[in-house]
Amino acid sequence: MAKKEKWVVRDKNKRNVFWPSVEMRERAWVGTDRFYKDAAKNPMDFWACLARDGLDWFKEWKKVYESKPPYFKWFLGGKLNASYNCLDRHLKDKGNKVAIIWESEPLEERERKITYRGLYREVCKFSNVLKKLGVKKGDRVGIYLPMIPEVMVSMLACARIGAVHSIVFSAFSGINFRKRVEDCGAKVLVTCDGYWRRGKQINLKKQADVAAKAKTVKKVVVVKRFTGKDELKLPMRKGRDYWYHELMAKASEDSKPVPVESNTPLFLLYTSGTTGKPKGVIHDTAGYLTQAYWTTLWDFDLHEDDVFWCTADVGWITGHTYNCYGPLSVGATMVIYEGSPDMPNWGRLWKIADKFDVSVFYTAPTAIRMFKKMGCELTKGYDLSTLRILGTVGEPIDLETWLWYFGCIGNGRCPVIDTWWQTETGGTLVNALPGIGPFIATVAGRPFPGTRAEILDEKGKPVKKGRTGYLVFKPPFPPGLLRGVWKNPKKYRDTYWREYGPKVYYTSDGAKWFDKHNIRVTGRVDDVMKVAGHRLSSAEIEDAITSHPEVIVSAVVPKPDEIRGQVPVAFVVLRPGVKPSPEVEASIVKQVRKEIGPTAKPHQVFFVKGLPKTRSGKIMRRFLKSMLVNEKLGDASTLQNPEIVGYLKKVVGYKRK
Ligand code: PRX
Repeated sequence: MAKKEKWVVRDKNKRNVFWPSVEMRERAWVGTDRFYKDAAKNPMDFWACLARDGLDWFKEWKKVYESKPPYFKWFLGGKLNASYNCLDRHLKDKGNKVAIIWESEPLEERERKITYRGLYREVCKFSNVLKKLGVKKGDRVGIYLPMIPEVMVSMLACARIGAVHSIVFSAFSGINFRKRVEDCGAKVLVTCDGYWRRGKQINLKKQADVAAKAKTVKKVVVVKRFTGKDELKLPMRKGRDYWYHELMAKASEDSKPVPVESNTPLFLLYTSGTTGKPKGVIHDTAGYLTQAYWTTLWDFDLHEDDVFWCTADVGWITGHTYNCYGPLSVGATMVIYEGSPDMPNWGRLWKIADKFDVSVFYTAPTAIRMFKKMGCELTKGYDLSTLRILGTVGEPIDLETWLWYFGCIGNGRCPVIDTWWQTETGGTLVNALPGIGPFIATVAGRPFPGTRAEILDEKGKPVKKGRTGYLVFKPPFPPGLLRGVWKNPKKYRDTYWREYGPKVYYTSDGAKWFDKHNIRVTGRVDDVMKVAGHRLSSAEIEDAITSHPEVIVSAVVPKPDEIRGQVPVAFVVLRPGVKPSPEVEASIVKQVRKEIGPTAKPHQVFFVKGLPKTRSGKIMRRFLKSMLVNEKLGDASTLQNPEIVGYLKKVVGYKRK
């Protein structure tokens, strides 16, 4: 790849607006506006063409799209297999191409490079292991693994036999994993002994054992991450727990991919909503994979010699789509890193990018803010000139952070692709394309070709440029959009299809038009927060706090944070007679860590005598949220207990802006 190439040019008239350079435009898969126009004329034909061109099918579909609001289907009657599309079809031309480069946290450990053929063999073997353990088409498999290649092997092995995987973020607690395993009724769990995090060995099996107690779980497969002097001595329950390497040693490499109908669930991914119970978002096979394939190819403009690195953990949707199904279906080389970005110092990611000649780098604003804080000096000594495209995802990115990323990491040469999307959308939906632009700081960009985004006011009318409204999508819906909520059709309807009726997908995000084409996303309008890019619900954290024996009730709201974007702040009412103390506070924080995981722990706890409530008894989190940032408070006269407002203002030290 040509190094030092300039991939962007600055707009002559507008500040902080950039365009693709001639080199970028010429190299890009999408270099003309025609794609948007053609796609808009007939989105069904457009997606059908993409599905045909991007994926290999065992059987062509009979019907492109069907809508029975709020349900819809794509490519009805078609048959395919996701693992075949990520592996088998690449063997002829790319068998020896590296699919995954894995870097461990300890510097002294060597990287692992796995070719497409190598990955194929592992996946075939593991699919046979799963079958032997009793996993059948449609069965759920719970995956609780850190960033090691076996997580991709497990995902693709499930897909190969038509089983449905449900991954839980390895930093979530065992109790949290158990709740999700129970909800989806997983038969088999895949986990590992542990992993390195900030120089410490984390014992994951101990947490997995909590979930393994769920009634449906029959078998647990344990990958051995630690060997030699690092080996962990683990209790393995006879008849339930099996070592991955022992099962793999006996498994056959002969495994035919099972053709599944397009709309068959490929995976479930639990995500936080406005209630305490996470919902199992269902993604189908063909629609999801079509969107994963084309967004990977076009957003990141991946070519044969690119090295793609998405730093997301596979426990989140970004990891599913851009650390597995997207890059592998396009046949790219990707990097995954096990550890923490500050090990042994904050230059580690740049060291890795240099070592593997990374050309496309995709991360979250929260990480960029941290790198910015640590300073550009940390990139010195590393050659980042292979970088061509930078991406960001997960939260709105502020101007300073965007400019720092562009200037320091990209050296003013690379576009920053700000991708807006959600667990529910399966793949990116609003962003600039590298060959089209413009790349506008703080503006996500343009809806992906073939999708119909709108921004509506409360009454459902499109808002004028510059006015904030709610981001929605109109039919035909993006093929990667969720197809339901596991065992909870009511939640599916109520969350996404109630606000504007069953024919409009409601995102729960605020947004405005920056110009005719480009959208600026302002953030969540519900009780969901983004903590260091991680999606957490107020209600979920409140449930964890309220399960503490000394707590009567609590309210959790986000507060802006310089690095993490938002952090949870808890307002807690203790049982009569319990005195607030640092010890009580510490035990509440501990409870949250135990029930959910460290990401959710409250940043601050206010012990209060009451909370603002509506006449129907609902806690008005909005009041608390505004108080924390000294914003104008809403009308208190609608409250059941308006007198509490003055008291709470004193507690938090509210000063009207
Ligand atoms: O509020 C939006 C924000 O992240 C939410 C979705 O979170 P999650 O399901 O965890 O998926 C994150 C990764 C796809 C959205 O509702 N969000 C995501 N990307 C952006 C964003 N907000 C602003 N700009 C973005 N680029």
